[in-house]
Amino acid sequence: MDPISEIKQKLDIVDLVGGYVEIKKSGHNYKGICPFHGEKTPSLMVSPELQIFKCFGCGEAGDIFAFYRKIEGVEFGPALEALADRVGVKLEKKAYDPESSVKKMLFEINSLASQYFNYILTKHKVGTKALDYVKNTRRLTDETIQNFSIGYSPDVFDGLLKFLQTKKFTPEQVVLAGLATTGKRPNTYIDKFRGRIMFPLTGIDKKVIGFTSRSLDGSEPKYLNSPETLIFHKSSFIFGLDKAKVAIKHDGAIFVEGQMDLIAAHQAGISNVVASSGTSLSTIQLKILERYTKDITFAFDSDLAGVRAMHRAIELAEQQGFNIKVAMIPSGFKDLDELIQADPKKAKSIFRESIPAYDFFLVSALRRNNKNDPIGKRKIMDELTEIFRKMADPVLRDHYVKKISQEVGVSEAVVADLIKNTKGGEKIYDTKSQVVFSSRAVPSEVKTPPSLSVRRMPEEYILALILRAPLDTAQSVLYKLGQKDFTDPSLLQLFTELKRYLLGRKRKFEIQHFIKRFANDVQDKLNELYLWDLQETGEDEENLIKELEKVFYLLKKSTAKREMLEISQRIKQAELAGEKDLLSQLSREFKELSEKLL
Ligand code: GTP
Ligand code: MN
Repeated sequence: MDPISEIKQKLDIVDLVGGYVEIKKSGHNYKGICPFHGEKTPSLMVSPELQIFKCFGCGEAGDIFAFYRKIEGVEFGPALEALADRVGVKLEKKAYDPESSVKKMLFEINSLASQYFNYILTKHKVGTKALDYVKNTRRLTDETIQNFSIGYSPDVFDGLLKFLQTKKFTPEQVVLAGLATTGKRPNTYIDKFRGRIMFPLTGIDKKVIGFTSRSLDGSEPKYLNSPETLIFHKSSFIFGLDKAKVAIKHDGAIFVEGQMDLIAAHQAGISNVVASSGTSLSTIQLKILERYTKDITFAFDSDLAGVRAMHRAIELAEQQGFNIKVAMIPSGFKDLDELIQADPKKAKSIFRESIPAYDFFLVSALRRNNKNDPIGKRKIMDELTEIFRKMADPVLRDHYVKKISQEVGVSEAVVADLIKNTKGGEKIYDTKSQVVFSSRAVPSEVKTPPSLSVRRMPEEYILALILRAPLDTAQSVLYKLGQKDFTDPSLLQLFTELKRYLLGRKRKFEIQHFIKRFANDVQDKLNELYLWDLQETGEDEENLIKELEKVFYLLKKSTAKREMLEISQRIKQAELAGEKDLLSQLSREFKELSEKLL
């Protein structure tokens, strides 16, 4: 057996995950608080049968290796070694050298690319316009340009590809480095970054691991980053840490939102600045930062999106025991970069005058809304309610009730009532507040946890239920369902296979066995359905059967509706064509269906 399978056989994912977070049995699965994003209601699910985990809050998912890599912030190699060691599996060192030679190649490609982009920007005429923008519009000095190795990717299909080919790299290797993509026609390749200002992302050892880039002509997306590669992992990367780490040990860390804010700050002599650049701050980034300091000052944009991003970041950092302050960007300035350009002295002073996080939320809400207008007042209180009702400490709470009452002009009793902590210090994280306070930087694949049966699509939900129902129940439901009940192609495929697998089966359903028949994308869907937490349904037989009946009815209803829609369209056509017989037949069908719906 290969070492990977051997480790998997010896190390139960439930034990591994359970060593980091508390997980509790919930039906077939285990459930707990996800360590990878800030949450207080559990959306991490672990399946002992499938030996995988998935968080329905942030989307992280995978096997024991994926979990270990994420939580320890390490590459695959070290993860393999650590886990092998834990369960006493011997590794032949050599077998794993190929990966490190691939990595070496990726470092080389990235480093060459960085030199190439920098050359184009500073020396080549193709970079003239970009250089003008960087120097005159963004006001970066030559020294800063060299310090950050800023570059420009020419607006052609294969500038970098051609250059790297002269250095004996193949297009496939450039794709692996995240710097090219495959074109529409087979065996064609195009540069990933074209017509953009390029900023190399450097690891703590200063090696280039990827790029972030800004469009020059205002085209979308404004910022584009390298994809995940063997050497670049977004969630554990902190932009600028290599340059800021020494200063951070002395002065604590300043976290800004944007790459340009960071570069402008360094140029202005504020050197303890780092950025999460486009992704929301993660637990892992904080764990890394913790090696240098426990003090963080946030200086995010002053717009509402910035405030939301900051709110999430503060919650997370608070959970991990950081001392948190906020530096207020004065009104009239969008972000730190703008402030530095306009008034570098003032920019430095905002860090001396930084305030506690909760004061910031109050000041910021007051600044963006008019408290003298009843609607403005309502908006301010809505915003503050979301934030302050999560405050657990009664002394702090009392302090802020008084303060909010004074500043907003609402009586203390009303403030206290609004921010009443209904769950005794537990954070209330309903779906609404997740929507309100998710920053634009949250990856788009983040889903709201499927915590309420009504929110689930019936065609998905019924499959999730069937997967856990007793064999005979599953069989009888499957028997009554047809292909027309499913509109989503992967769900349809799941259904069809499930029917084939279960009808006539005598032995118990085995998910580990069943899942092998699908391609990766359908497997992902199946994993997800199997990991859904059905706790509020209750996974005992009686409840499952009841729930199945309900969903079955809903599903049939929506199928009937769809069919009626189809028929009514055909009726229109038959009318137009004057086909009487067809028309009366269709009308009959329509009537039958509508009766079904009642
Ligand atoms: P400049 O216009 O160059 O000053 O950028 P900014 O930092 O002021 O941009 P903005 O406030 O719009 O966005 C803040 C941060 O979010 C940026 O610095 C990026 O890190 C990130 N961001 C903005 N737009 C995009 C985008 O289209 N894609 C991605 N991945 N990230 C983005
Ligand atoms: Mn900006």
